[in-house]
Amino acid sequence: MYNIREIGKDLYYIGCSDRRLSLFESAYPVPDGMSYNSYLLNDEKTVLFDTVDKSCSEQFFENLDAALNGKSLDYIVVHHMEPDHCALLQDVISIYPEAKIVCTQKTVNMIKQFFDFDIDTRSMVVKEGDILNTGSHELVFYMAPMVHWPEVMVTYDKTGKILFSADAFGSFGAINGNLFDDEVNWERDYLDEVRRYYTNIVGKYGLQVQMLLKKAAGLDIEMICPLHGLIIKNNIGLFVEKYDKWSSYTPEEKGVLIAYTSVYGGTENALNILAGMLADRGVKNIKMYDLSYTHYSKVLAECFKYSNLVLGTTTYNGGIFESMQNFIHVLVSHNLQNRKISLVENGSWAPVCGGQIKSLLEGLKGTEFIEPGFCIKSTLKSNQLDELENVVNTIVKSLEL
Ligand code: FEO
Repeated sequence: MYNIREIGKDLYYIGCSDRRLSLFESAYPVPDGMSYNSYLLNDEKTVLFDTVDKSCSEQFFENLDAALNGKSLDYIVVHHMEPDHCALLQDVISIYPEAKIVCTQKTVNMIKQFFDFDIDTRSMVVKEGDILNTGSHELVFYMAPMVHWPEVMVTYDKTGKILFSADAFGSFGAINGNLFDDEVNWERDYLDEVRRYYTNIVGKYGLQVQMLLKKAAGLDIEMICPLHGLIIKNNIGLFVEKYDKWSSYTPEEKGVLIAYTSVYGGTENALNILAGMLADRGVKNIKMYDLSYTHYSKVLAECFKYSNLVLGTTTYNGGIFESMQNFIHVLVSHNLQNRKISLVENGSWAPVCGGQIKSLLEGLKGTEFIEPGFCIKSTLKSNQLDELENVVNTIVKSLEL
């Protein structure tokens, strides 16, 4: 049975959700599921905005057929050729062979990489500012390269004042009946997964997101239709504010994110004591995660949120303990900037990991190491408490509370 929702004049939500997926992109846990949003504009001309992931093809085709309501499909706008949105492109073309594919030249090339159907005779290549008139709607295309792939563009429906934003303004999480942000407590219940999605999927491309924000600022937007997650109406201002912070690598809050690994508990014990000392000095925002237990995507999102990081780990095989080594790679590959970082190293016979972490992170723009670092040999000793208090005092000072 089809499951479509009318979300505006001539506009239907025809996407679907997957609640069985364990890892989105084979990388990110999605305990609340994942939505794949697709939209159908049924104007004088009909326009399909993207398709969905293969996992929900049956529902999608029932939805598309119902939303077309007997009409044929005139255009398919491909905002982004990643298969979570366009896995079904060839199947759509086989049912609606007359449909034109509206996309960038880069997308044409990518479609050829993924599919074998004849794209050249079907493509309608658009550039920045090009317009498609569908009858009563005027669609304007804007390029958004690297948000999240190089071929990405977004569409602004001038008539409906709607931005079809591709991956931008998306989120992890399935659609559970409520389709709009004004039907839920978005900031309380959704913002954390929005942040985890942004930081992990497009966190590296802050500069390009800033460029998209500048373009969006010139548009009168009443509704944002992303390719994942809720449709945004009420929280556009707050969402843009968060995107501006994340994409400029500006901390949202003063606070301390403590990420650690601990083989036998010595490092964890020292960091629990350090966290308590921070709290005793009035620090309210303290989060602690064991990187060998909590998925890196959650901790990365917290690193984008808070001003200070404390990284604690063990020297292992003369290097950095594996799960911390991986996490350092995640921080570097996602281009985290402008953070104040404190290092706590452990090593039972030759603690060297602190210096190694420092050399990996010092290339990140705006990184400030809060000195001194702290070194444990196996376990924290009572004669080190004064030294630890000194470390805590420098962290508190750097917070400028
Ligand atoms: Fe949701 Fe970049 O694909």
